[in-house]
Amino acid sequence: MNLLVRNATFPDGRTHQDVRVVAGRIEAIGPNLPAPDGAPVIDAQGQLLSPPFVDPHFHMDATLSYGLPRVNQSGTLLEGIALWGELKPLLTQEALVERALQYCDWAVAKGLLAIRTHVDVCDDRLLAVEALLHVKERVKAYLDLQLVAFPQDGLLRSPTALANLKRSLDLGVDVIGGIPHFERTSEHGAESVKVLCELAAERGLRVDMHCDESDDPLSRHIETLAFHTHRLGLHGRVTGSHLTSMHSMDNYYVSKLLPLMREAQVHAVANPLINITLQGRHDTYPKRRGMTRVPELMAAGINVAFGHDCVMDPWYSLGSGDMLEVAHMGLHVAQMTSQAQMRACFDAVTVNGARVMGLADHGLEVGRAADFVLLQARDPVEAIRLRATRLQVVRRGQVVAQSAPSSAALSLPGRPSGVDWTFRR
Ligand code: FE2
Repeated sequence: MNLLVRNATFPDGRTHQDVRVVAGRIEAIGPNLPAPDGAPVIDAQGQLLSPPFVDPHFHMDATLSYGLPRVNQSGTLLEGIALWGELKPLLTQEALVERALQYCDWAVAKGLLAIRTHVDVCDDRLLAVEALLHVKERVKAYLDLQLVAFPQDGLLRSPTALANLKRSLDLGVDVIGGIPHFERTSEHGAESVKVLCELAAERGLRVDMHCDESDDPLSRHIETLAFHTHRLGLHGRVTGSHLTSMHSMDNYYVSKLLPLMREAQVHAVANPLINITLQGRHDTYPKRRGMTRVPELMAAGINVAFGHDCVMDPWYSLGSGDMLEVAHMGLHVAQMTSQAQMRACFDAVTVNGARVMGLADHGLEVGRAADFVLLQARDPVEAIRLRATRLQVVRRGQVVAQSAPSSAALSLPGRPSGVDWTFRR
């Protein structure tokens, strides 16, 4: 598809930029570009044109199942896992596909065009794996879906998990997952990390583990993950997701850990909405936030992205696929309030997530895929502040979703009547 976007502002602050798209790819960027012959033109009117949002950590097999078969009463991670265990035998492939496709529709409407989803492989039927492989194929024209083989019940703790995980990879699942803190002992956790990293090296795959999703400061599997990543030469291909125990770790230990993660080029994914909800549940007061050390990780040169993790499932009853909501929460929980830090939170839901997923085609650069989102905002900070309306969502040069600009009609005594749609000064 050919297209011209006129007069856009980019997340890096460049203004008055045109983007010329030919055959679904960005052919040129700059001021005053001619439109390709007969191509439609989008007038951005100086608003923010961003690469698509990326969610590098999600659970699409569980999404939109809230209330099935019951709700999580305690709100804890462990009751969520138990509840998911109750739901699993009741799942059907049709229902999984239907819910996943519905969520993908929501995602596209919110400009979210790439999702890495974990898929539980501890059900011997591999129903969810087959369902999500089907969904991946169904949505590939408009959304990049990457699957992670996730042994939810523990690689060593669940007797068939390793065999099922390998079967899932054989079926086409992209990434190797793990959950070392959920194994029976920390030694088993470390062993699971070793086994899974060796499997990744053998198969040439990426790794993304739920790692240290705990308030226990002695949950230190990220150290083992960084070690095996370095040992096996998996640099840049391994992600530690959640890393919430780091919130509670000893500062001296963290000062040694971060350089090891940097050396191994391990990516970190925080899930602010879920971490702030699930962690600290055993605390009275003061109550820990439980999110990993995002600004410190970034300052150490580690790529940090934010994930949504859950939407309306056994762990979380809210959400709509809005990565600006995720960035908004991340910014608050991490107290990242300087201009540079707020912009870094925008990167955490766009380009940083693309690096986690290894999406070489993502980004507003000549030669890359013409995928972008026009936001009703002037810059990334305003986009986060307003959870800005996605005016146009473009995939390979084609508009795949549109939303009317947000507006409010005011009729106030003693005030001039009119429409305030900007919430801007
Ligand atoms: Fe997760």
